[in-house]
Amino acid sequence: MAKLNKWHGTAAVIGIDWGDSGKGRLIDDLSQNANVIARFNGGSNTGHTVSNKFGKFAMHITPSGIFNQKATCLVGRNVAVNLEVLIQELDSFKKAGVAFKNLVIDEQAPLTMPWHILRDGIREKVRKSKIGTTGNGVGPTYADYTERVGLKVIDLLSSDLKEKIYNEAEIQNKFFNLKISPNDVYSKFSKYSKVIKPYVGNTIQIIKQNLQKNKNILFEGAQGYFLDIDAGTYPFVTSSNPGVVGIWRSYDLHPQNLDHVIGITKAYTTRVGSGPMPTKMDEKTSKQIIEKGHEVGTTTGRIRSPGWQDLVLLKYAHEANHLTALAITKLDILSGQKKIKLGVGYKLNGKETTYLSHSSEFLENVRPVYEEFEGWQEDISNVREFERLPKNAKKYIEAIEKFTKIPVKFISVGPKRGEVIYV
Ligand code: IMP
Repeated sequence: MAKLNKWHGTAAVIGIDWGDSGKGRLIDDLSQNANVIARFNGGSNTGHTVSNKFGKFAMHITPSGIFNQKATCLVGRNVAVNLEVLIQELDSFKKAGVAFKNLVIDEQAPLTMPWHILRDGIREKVRKSKIGTTGNGVGPTYADYTERVGLKVIDLLSSDLKEKIYNEAEIQNKFFNLKISPNDVYSKFSKYSKVIKPYVGNTIQIIKQNLQKNKNILFEGAQGYFLDIDAGTYPFVTSSNPGVVGIWRSYDLHPQNLDHVIGITKAYTTRVGSGPMPTKMDEKTSKQIIEKGHEVGTTTGRIRSPGWQDLVLLKYAHEANHLTALAITKLDILSGQKKIKLGVGYKLNGKETTYLSHSSEFLENVRPVYEEFEGWQEDISNVREFERLPKNAKKYIEAIEKFTKIPVKFISVGPKRGEVIYV
């Protein structure tokens, strides 16, 4: 396979952990080659960081490929659209001189409404076992969508928007004991609709047309496979599908039509919010990694909890999503560690187990089996070829490849654009 940045056809970038793997930056890079960049899941809970010649951006709704000014950028049918956040994003692009005339938001996408954000907060407050949501109303948005009562982007264009908002606000007030003023919501959303109107369309047709013309289409996932509503550690999950199934849900594109499925994860792992992580690091190492790796949430400002890379999970994500390449980010953050651990198995009640249950209880109860590696002390941020990495860093990456049987095609060695190795 050619280098990843020379990709052609259809490619997807999906998180294969608990999110926060550095997708924004990889997508910014890969989008140089894309005719279309299509976001397919999640909503304003997402925070993809992109840092390039235009500035530094935290992307929540818009695809991270918006900086390729020639490409078409799509927000898919299964993305929870928070208009306030989206409009703030568009304003930040305007200020930075980033054009976004090629942005299309799917007309069928569910809208995150003010009552969803309130409900997210209330629910978390009264829960005994908290999920630790981002508080963006994403869960309630998808809940209403599945219940078939939520508003969609297309409603912004309808002549009875006012009636729809009033009806829904009254129902939400009654059933969730809220005190929302329908008129306030309507006056906000009628303004939003004027801004958004030019960008509303049918993204599925755009994907189809581009497929017929053999254009390069890049699908941008949010979060990570173990936060998937179905496959993740329920209930400590998000409410959408970060794996390849999410692409089908947004764009009717069968996963077998993907030429490249790039699974992205850090050289270690992190988790934010509640839920189990078998390979959690000890306190001292955690502190070092949080500090060096700036492990603070882009959307919420919460500290992420670090763990050693867990190959049992990676292998599972591979089986389900048929990865063609691995992208490993933040290898430089592990520089300076004396010993580096890799999770290669689990023990349950003292016995080795390969069975991976989706229940969060299972992952809470297993103990990791580690393989230990010698670390490296060198600064690797100037390395651009795999061969030039310190011997022990190469050994570490090769062990990941050997265990998962997925080629590592991208390694990031520093936070800036270009501080990467395309293997
Ligand atoms: P929600 O998606 O806001 O409902 O949060 C549910 C769970 O998913 C929580 O544990 C969040 O911390 C986690 N989560 C949601 N979005 C992200 C993300 O973009 N990165 C990392 N974790 C996320």
